[in-house]
Parts: sequence; C-alpha cells; structure tokens
Amino acid sequence: MVDRDLPGREVADGAALWHGRFESGPSRDLMDFTESISFDRRLWADDIEGSRAHVQMLAHVGLMSAGDAEAVMLALGAVHAEMAAGDFVFVATDEDIHTAIERRVTQIAGEPGARLHTGRSRNDQVATALRLWSRREMRSVAAAALSLVDVLAARADEADSAEPPVAVPGYTHLQRAQPVLLSHHLRAHAWALLRDIDRIQDALERADVSPLGAGALAGSSLPIDPSFSAAQMGFAAPFANSLDAVSDRDHVAEYLFALSLIGVHLSRIGEEWVLWTSEEFGFAVLDDAYATGSSMLPQKKNADIAELARGKAGRLIGNLAGLLATLKGLPLAYNRDLQEDKEPLFDSVDQVRRGLVAVAGMIATARFVTTKMHDAANAESLVATDIAEWLVERGMPFREAHAVVGKVVRDALSSGTSMVQAVAAHPQLGPEAAALFGEGVALGRRLSPGAAGPRAQPAQRVLLATAAEAARRSLM
Ligand code: ARG
Repeated sequence: MVDRDLPGREVADGAALWHGRFESGPSRDLMDFTESISFDRRLWADDIEGSRAHVQMLAHVGLMSAGDAEAVMLALGAVHAEMAAGDFVFVATDEDIHTAIERRVTQIAGEPGARLHTGRSRNDQVATALRLWSRREMRSVAAAALSLVDVLAARADEADSAEPPVAVPGYTHLQRAQPVLLSHHLRAHAWALLRDIDRIQDALERADVSPLGAGALAGSSLPIDPSFSAAQMGFAAPFANSLDAVSDRDHVAEYLFALSLIGVHLSRIGEEWVLWTSEEFGFAVLDDAYATGSSMLPQKKNADIAELARGKAGRLIGNLAGLLATLKGLPLAYNRDLQEDKEPLFDSVDQVRRGLVAVAGMIATARFVTTKMHDAANAESLVATDIAEWLVERGMPFREAHAVVGKVVRDALSSGTSMVQAVAAHPQLGPEAAALFGEGVALGRRLSPGAAGPRAQPAQRVLLATAAEAARRSLM
C-alpha cells in the first residue's frame, strides 16, 4: 500500500520542526511508528500549491514583505523543481512531506523561509493539501469511468448494428429469464458508471472548501485572510468553522464510498466476464493482451482482469470501513489518528483507476461469440412470458395466463416434447402463439420504454449518449 517509489533520497540528520520545546530529539521508535513521509510524499505538489497561496495571502495582508514573499516563492519553485526531478534530499527527521518542504524552503530562502508558517499550522496545511490532491485525482478517476462508459456505449452500438441485433439471454437468479439485446445489457453497466461519476462530482462540490487559515484549531490572532488563499487555490469558499476545518474528513469518506461503489460495479462486470469467457457460456473471447495463461495448464486462457476487478472490491470496501472506524471516536479537533486518512484514499484511487482502465481495455478488445449468444437467447423456454402476455392481450387475467403457460412448460418437460409443438397444439394457444418462438420475435415485441428489445434501443442510445456528454462537460 505504501508507495516508496516517490521522489527523493534519504540522509540521516536534522532536527524536528517542533524541536523548541524538547530537550532531546525524537527516538527512532517514535519516528518509525508515526512518520507519514513514506506515503504522503505524493502530496508534494499540493503542499507547494497550498504554500504558494499562503505566501500570497501573507503578502496581500502585509504579514510578509513583497521581497520576503518573492524569496519564498522562488524557494518553493526550486523545491518544486527538485521534487519533479526526483533529486530532493530528505533527512531522517522529515516526518512528513510538509515538514520536509518547509525545511528545504528555509534552507534555500533563509530568514524569509522561516516566515512561511506564519498564521498556519500543519493541521490546516495537511487538510488543504489533501483536498487539493483529491480534487485532481478524483476527477481523473471520473474521467477513467467515463472512458469505460464510452467503451460500453460503442460496443452496444456495434451489437445493435449487426443483422439481426445481437441478443443474449437475460438472467434472474442466474437462470435464463427472457431474451435481451446485448446492447441493452452493456448499457445497463454504463448507467451505473454514470451515476458513479455524478456521485464523485457531487462529493467534489461539497468538498470545495479551503481549510487554510484555520490554524491548529482556532484560527489566528494575526490579520490573515482565508478567503484570499481559498480564491488563490480555486476553492469555492473558505471554511466557516476552524474546528470543523481541521478535523473534517467527510470528503475522504465520501470519496472512499464512491470508489467502493465503483469497485462493486467493476466487480459485477468482472463476475459476468468470468462467466461469459468460460467454456460453459462461451459468449466472449478475450484478446490475448488482456488474458493470462496458466503456469501448469497449457490450454488455459484466464480472465484475470475480470477476477481482480471482482477481487479488489473487498479491499476497497475495507478502506472505507477502516476510515469510518478511525473517525468515529475522535473528539474535536485535529488528532494524529487523522493521518490514517491518506493510505486508504491513495490505495483506493490507484486501484479503482487501474481497474477502470484495465476493464475498459478488456471489453474494448474482446470478441463476442454472437452465434453462442443467439443460440442461448433463442432457447424456447425464454418465450414463456411472452406467451402469457399474448393471452393477456386476448383478455385473460395474467395470473390465469401464467398458470396456463406454466402447465405447458411442465408438460413439455415431462413428455420431452418441444414447447413450440405443445403451444401449437394447445386449445387456448395454437399456431399464432407458437409463432412467438420465431427467432427474435419475442424480443421484437418488447415495446415499453426502457425495455430490452430493438424498438426501445434507439431512444436508449440517445439517452445514454446525452448523459455521457453531460458528464464529459462536467469534467472539462
Ligand atoms: N502528517 C500528519 C498528518 O498527515 C500531520 C501532522 C500534523 N499535526 C501534528 N500536530 N502532528 O496528519
């Protein structure tokens, strides 16, 4: 979970930022257990962005001279360059990325650097950096979800343009229920992902608040201007309550929920593809680049992406449950426990984004075995409901029609005759009802809005494309 492949080298020296009150330095045990530098390094660019906004605010209200502000901004630029190039040198007392950057800025800029932390605490600094990081990264997850929507929509359109449009059995309880179009099935998953994107956007909007200026917990006696720094960072508003600002991790919990639900949606897609690519179903064949082999069984072609899309959902849900458990007992305001917000968020973002990309690639490149799909979709038992509805059209109460057709099914099964023959010979049914068994006939009769047949698809194609376009615009 910890990403140690982030910029920088380590050397052992230096004093803790908060050393003033202490006679001795921190023990190795303390540093090993409490450090967050091993994972919060990836906040470096966001920490610098927050510091830039803070310096501009300090200069704006006259707490820092223009010259000092310029020196600190230059030093922040230099640190940015070192970080980007991967040659920032960490020291053993850099307990987190925020202390490391401030230490280096002070080293470069001298006395003006020591003014950077004026009117600021690591508590509001950390909260700010994490909001900046998640604003960018969650939008990128939403964009990856939209790419998967695009793949599903494109494959749905392709399945509809075949002649006849590709049909599959629709399932309930994983038992064949009624025929549906493959496009309809693929679009169902796209709708779930569009809700995921909407959920992320919604959470991003609620999180669009800057905590900078809340200080450790109570604001500042200095004439700082949180609105100014909020605007510098493009936040919609500054915090309203300093205690809330430094202790609120609701947005992290919301993101983890949104990511868990994407994980659940990917898991459901994954489960279907494991089934569809099995020899038993045989509905789809994976491209070699998106399948794996077995170390022992030479004939195997495994759907590992689909399986891990399913498998990783557990860990994503765990990340959400873990954070909620961390938060539940915390008194106001900041507590060090809150440092535990980052690893689950980083992990869930990474896993979900990679999962979305891999599943999109898998589906985009797979081949649908439409002959197999058609054979399964045209199995005669799938027409039973349509026969019952045919009787309803002729005035029979549905419950009665259900019983009539149920008996036909039972008789056909026990006598080993086909349902078509049984229906054709039935006094209440006959040849006209038997014609419903023709290929694609039952599906063609599915007329209601949002239904699974070809007549309803053009409207659904437009609805989905419109919703995807709206999502695309919202991400621009
Ligand atoms: N690295 C810590 C975190 O991520 C910051 C510590 C802030 N404050 C403190 N008083 N120790 O939460």
